[in-house]
Amino acid sequence: MDSLENLKIRALKREDLEAIVKIDKRVLGEDRKSHWERKLELMSNKSSQVSLVAEVEGEVVGFILGDVSGWEFGVPETIGWMDTIGVDPAYQKKGIATALAHELIKNLKAIQVKTIYTLVSWDDWDLLQFFHAMGFTRGDMINLELKI
Ligand SMILES: CC(C)(COP(=O)(O)OP(=O)(O)OC[C@H]1O[C@@H](n2cnc3c(N)ncnc32)[C@H](O)[C@@H]1OP(=O)(O)O)[C@@H](O)C(=O)NCCC(=O)NCCS
Repeated sequence: MDSLENLKIRALKREDLEAIVKIDKRVLGEDRKSHWERKLELMSNKSSQVSLVAEVEGEVVGFILGDVSGWEFGVPETIGWMDTIGVDPAYQKKGIATALAHELIKNLKAIQVKTIYTLVSWDDWDLLQFFHAMGFTRGDMINLELKI
């Protein structure tokens, strides 16, 4: 059965924590429950809630965390962020991440976002391919770091 037939995209809720932790563990092989607890807690305190989950027959099989900000980094407009995206390995390559990203883009457009940023590790090929397929290109900003 094509899972996209029964795909539902909806707003992410605090109750999705366990499902997200499970997907994250299946993808990365480690349990990062406290990381996700903190992340969802921070998210729930924001006025703009744009994060989404993908459900197939009532089961959460993917998620996308998004954010909105303005004027940071000297960018004089409302900008959107694609923070983290994850799809259960059993459901990958079926267009679920694409559906999540399209819905997030639609929601960000509706609040006047004109540019969406994301950060990807240079050697994360799956994600790089995915963002390339979505139409993302290299932006003007460069990533700096100082190890202390
Ligand atoms: C990258 C990721 C989100 C893609 O999810 P997905 O639902 O499989 O993606 P889609 O089916 O919508 O793929 C859309 C396009 O992206 C590209 N793509 C996606 N996965 C790819 C892969 N593993 N290798 C190469 N290209 C890929 C393809 O161009 C694909 O289009 P195609 O199927 O027509 O070739 C998924 O592999 C994932 O969750 N990876 C782990 C990401 C991560 O580390 N997240 C943080 C922890 S959860």
